Amino acid sequence: MNTAAENPQSPFHQAVHAIISARKVCILTGAGISAESGIPTFRDKQTGLWENYRAEDLANINAFHRDPQLVWSWYQWRRTLVQDKKPNPAHHALFEWVQKTPSTQSGQTQEVVLITQNVDDLHEQAGSTAAHLHGHLWKNRCADCHKPYEAPIDYQSDALLICEHCGGYVRPDIVWFGEMLPQQAWQHAELAASECDVFISIGTSSIVYPAAGLAGLAKSHGATIIEVNPNPTNAPVVDIQLEGKAGDILPALVAALNDNLT
Ligand code: OAD
Repeated sequence: MNTAAENPQSPFHQAVHAIISARKVCILTGAGISAESGIPTFRDKQTGLWENYRAEDLANINAFHRDPQLVWSWYQWRRTLVQDKKPNPAHHALFEWVQKTPSTQSGQTQEVVLITQNVDDLHEQAGSTAAHLHGHLWKNRCADCHKPYEAPIDYQSDALLICEHCGGYVRPDIVWFGEMLPQQAWQHAELAASECDVFISIGTSSIVYPAAGLAGLAKSHGATIIEVNPNPTNAPVVDIQLEGKAGDILPALVAALNDNLT
């Protein structure tokens, strides 16, 4: 009996074949890639004090206008949850792939662009450079004048902070529902999606736009779409479904790419 990886008809084998032929690869990660590091995804039910709230109702500009204390407290809690978390084998595998300047089967240099919806810094901790579409959990700015707030912050304290320039409330530098994505990161993502030969969507429910539209953009330009998720989204745009945890699939995928190209 063949293993899934050895079976030439298997989605895994098809994915390896598509990737080793690709000049340009665009990778989009979501909360699922950090799940195995112990960070709950957005659509996991919240626990403890926050179990009666939905993340979508807090990561929201209207919620902050209505009740800045509530939203700030939630982010301070999320920061305490995330601050000791480390990259998992999926983050490390992506770094291993990108840092060795990969090449295609025909010997051309392969360009790999990494884009994330995550606000954690686990890709960076693993050594990768990622374009952050939804901002950064560890950065803050004024909600009114938008100037960065760079003083050290005690994550254990829920006290609201005040901007030294204008007196507005300080907020996390995160893109909330109802807000525009950072222009530079978004343009980078759109370009990478529209130029890639293979687009890989990892650990995202693909329901939050505009990020969720990147796979469709890639597909409309002829790319093959690969999804890595233990709970397939069944999005019609997906060509190759790799059903499983990112921490299992990505190290195996990167090992297979190395084997096929050496
Ligand atoms: P979601 O929480 O919506 O989806 C996480 C996805 O990861 C689900 O499809 C899970 O099946 C999958 N998953 C869980 N464990 C996994 C694992 N070990 N390996 C691979 N996949 C796994 O997270 P996102 O799609 O990232 O926005 O959410 C998109 C945006 O909505 C977030 O960036 C955030 C949120 O509200 C803002 O905060 C603006």
